Amino acid sequence: MSVPRPAAVIVLAAGEGTRMKSSTPKVLHELCGRALVDHVLAAARGLSPERLIVVVGHARGQVQAHLAASGPDARAVVQAEQNGTGHAVRTVLEAVGTINGTVLVTYGDTPLLRTDTMAELLVTHATDGNAVTVLTAEVPDPTGYGRVIRDATGAVLEIVEERDATPEQRVIREMNSGVYAFDGLLLADAVKRVSTANSQGEEYLTDVLSILREDGHRVGAYVAADHIEVEGVNDRVQLAFARGVLNTRVLHAHMRAGVTVIDPASTWVDVDVVMEPDVVVHPGTQLHGRTAIASGAEVGPATTLTDTTVGAGAVVRNAVCEGAEIGPGASVGPYAYLRPGTVLGRGAKAGTYVEMKNARVGEGSKVPHLTYVGDATIGEGSNIGASSVFVNYDGVRKHHTTVGDHVRVGSDNMLVAPVTIGDGAYTAAGSVITNDVPPGAMAVGRARQRTIEGWVARRRAGTASAEAAHRALDGSATRPADATHPAGDQDGPAGEQHQESTK
Ligand code: UD1
Ligand code: CA
Repeated sequence: MSVPRPAAVIVLAAGEGTRMKSSTPKVLHELCGRALVDHVLAAARGLSPERLIVVVGHARGQVQAHLAASGPDARAVVQAEQNGTGHAVRTVLEAVGTINGTVLVTYGDTPLLRTDTMAELLVTHATDGNAVTVLTAEVPDPTGYGRVIRDATGAVLEIVEERDATPEQRVIREMNSGVYAFDGLLLADAVKRVSTANSQGEEYLTDVLSILREDGHRVGAYVAADHIEVEGVNDRVQLAFARGVLNTRVLHAHMRAGVTVIDPASTWVDVDVVMEPDVVVHPGTQLHGRTAIASGAEVGPATTLTDTTVGAGAVVRNAVCEGAEIGPGASVGPYAYLRPGTVLGRGAKAGTYVEMKNARVGEGSKVPHLTYVGDATIGEGSNIGASSVFVNYDGVRKHHTTVGDHVRVGSDNMLVAPVTIGDGAYTAAGSVITNDVPPGAMAVGRARQRTIEGWVARRRAGTASAEAAHRALDGSATRPADATHPAGDQDGPAGEQHQESTK
């Protein structure tokens, strides 16, 4: 049987969530990249309901603002005072009018409940022609839950809350999940007749079952195959448990689709992350938000990617990347930090102790060691020497640096933006580059070395340094000034050793 489309899904989320001990409303706590309530809404959307309604109450400003941003298809209905689950549903029907068709009621704090399970409930409800069908589960410890009371034939009679239950009823391990499929017209009538004659003085939605049964309507139950799905989150221990279950589900789906996860126990992947077959995820990796990883890429160990795309065959090790685009075959880390707006071209490299922000690095260009690249465009095939800084901030504003194709920036350069280094240009090691460098030029921006012979013997006599120098010089007079730098070797390529070429 195809799954009947519900006329509405009502998500109850007005409760305070006291046990979270949090200034954040319970249903906005995050797991696997979504708030609790968003997991529920995502599962509900899988049923294509005509209407999606969320009952808000406690901290409703925050919850409504969240829904407006992340679930605008859901209508929030305010339940100003939380007088019980029955009152919550009555408040909805008073606000939106009677709903003709099947109404599914669920909670905002059950992130593990899958669309498939709700669909099975709807199918049972329709097939059996019930006025109401409750989703139940056999649990090892039913403490705190409403118990499902059945007669000798197994027919559902009523649901009794723990506080109102007799000792015999408390032994029952079939619990009420709080999820129901109702006939909308019958619900609208019955919910008005719920009393508050119970230990909490609340309107219990559970009472609708006995009211409908006493009216002569069919009341049924669908027992969930896995009770874990219907377990709600009431405190942070349960939040962590639910996160673990959800994460395992996500990892299993990826592994079955061809992703290698070396250590599922230390790998955390948000629900919206996309991975192609033959991706390898190493231990200690967290993949958040809209991260997408193409075939053959390897991420981790100890890597956290948020809203980052990784191209085919790229390698990202011990890195933290946020809002970055890593091209095919590119290499990141170990120990790299790529911030928003970083775009690494095909085969490019952001190496060890490298930070980048708002920077485009062209195909095959390399930034291998100890470097900050902020607000920059680097062309293709260029190399940035170790320990360089793209000096982008003048204390007030950020400025852009442009480096052309096949440029060789020497080690320990400060490229003071705004500045442009033309195609094929070189800069000398240790340069502070403040002026544009034309294509093909060599720029040297540093003080010339001054060597004062015999200074240690004169000014630090008797020290270990002076003695070492004495031994090296073999007791003779000072060595010739150019002994280690023969003339003619002073116009070499940009590297650590060569001298200034502007003498
Ligand atoms: C409810 C059920 C119980 C079931 C359990 C499953 C009733 C009377 N009892 O008990 O049989 O085993 O859920 O978790 O229904 N809410 C509102 N407005 C309110 C009251 C509650 O929106 O006025 C929301 C809460 O935010 C929460 C959900 O409804 O998400 C359940 O409310 P809660 O008070 O936790 O019900 P339980 O006592 O757990
Ligand atoms: Ca509860």
